[in-house]
Amino acid sequence: MSLLVTEGLTKDFGGLRAVDGVNLVVGEGEIHGIIGPNGAGKTTVFNLITGYLKPTRGKIHFRGRRIDGLEPHRVVSLGIARTFQIVRPFTDLSVLQNVLVAWGHRNYYGLGPFKPFGPAKRKALEILEFVGLAERAYVGAAALPIGLQRRLEIARAIALEPKLVLLDEPAAGLTEEEITRLKELVLRIVASGMTVALVEHRMTFVMDICQLITVLDRGKVIAEGTPSQVASDPEVIEAYLGAGEGEGDA
Ligand SMILES: Nc1ncnc2c1ncn2[C@@H]1O[C@H](COP(=O)(O)OP(=O)(O)O)[C@@H](O)[C@H]1O
Ligand SMILES: [Mg+2]
Repeated sequence: MSLLVTEGLTKDFGGLRAVDGVNLVVGEGEIHGIIGPNGAGKTTVFNLITGYLKPTRGKIHFRGRRIDGLEPHRVVSLGIARTFQIVRPFTDLSVLQNVLVAWGHRNYYGLGPFKPFGPAKRKALEILEFVGLAERAYVGAAALPIGLQRRLEIARAIALEPKLVLLDEPAAGLTEEEITRLKELVLRIVASGMTVALVEHRMTFVMDICQLITVLDRGKVIAEGTPSQVASDPEVIEAYLGAGEGEGDA
């Protein structure tokens, strides 16, 4: 079943068409990769899906319901969570508190009477265990190295109890070993019942774990298919080779 469907999704920034008629279908339980050179419009697609930006044209359906134009907090409450290309932890809070804020937003927000703190803390620790950060629970979030800050981003997204998790360049700045662990984590996220769509500009990361890959170039979908179909597509190869030094599979 398709979880997320975009139809003719388009976003103009002044004279620049950053996203141009994108039709995207993300199936339930899949790991869907969105790749493309820098500036292809990948992050803008995520910003449109999550309500940070309003589309110039086009529709977005999530679980059969129209969501384009909804505010970000409404999109979260319907079951879509995201991470950011540039990590954004609450730097004054501990790792645990960062997750508590997210989980509390989902489970406490607007519900009136006081709720006991114990279950929230247990749940947050469970999530930290899941992403491999339990040992750092009481450390200040700002003190984490970048690889672990990316894990914290993922922990906060999961704490919102989403159906769909959008990861924007989760492998950026990670070592090879951290990338291997990240792949395992993404597979566990899907095994636990969530669907993942992730953006990368590096081909190699998505090739290993995605069932389906959509390739964007200058706002348009130029190819879609399995990793091997996409990797052998002449237009994809051209887009990457034509991207200039440091922009393709950097
Ligand atoms: N808020 C914005 N205002 C103006 N231009 C933007 C904005 N966000 C992105 N862009 C432009 O849209 C294009 C696509 O950007 P982006 O979606 O960030 O690409 P990607 O994530 O694929 O690298 C780029 O040319 C970028 O400069
Ligand atoms: Mg981006």
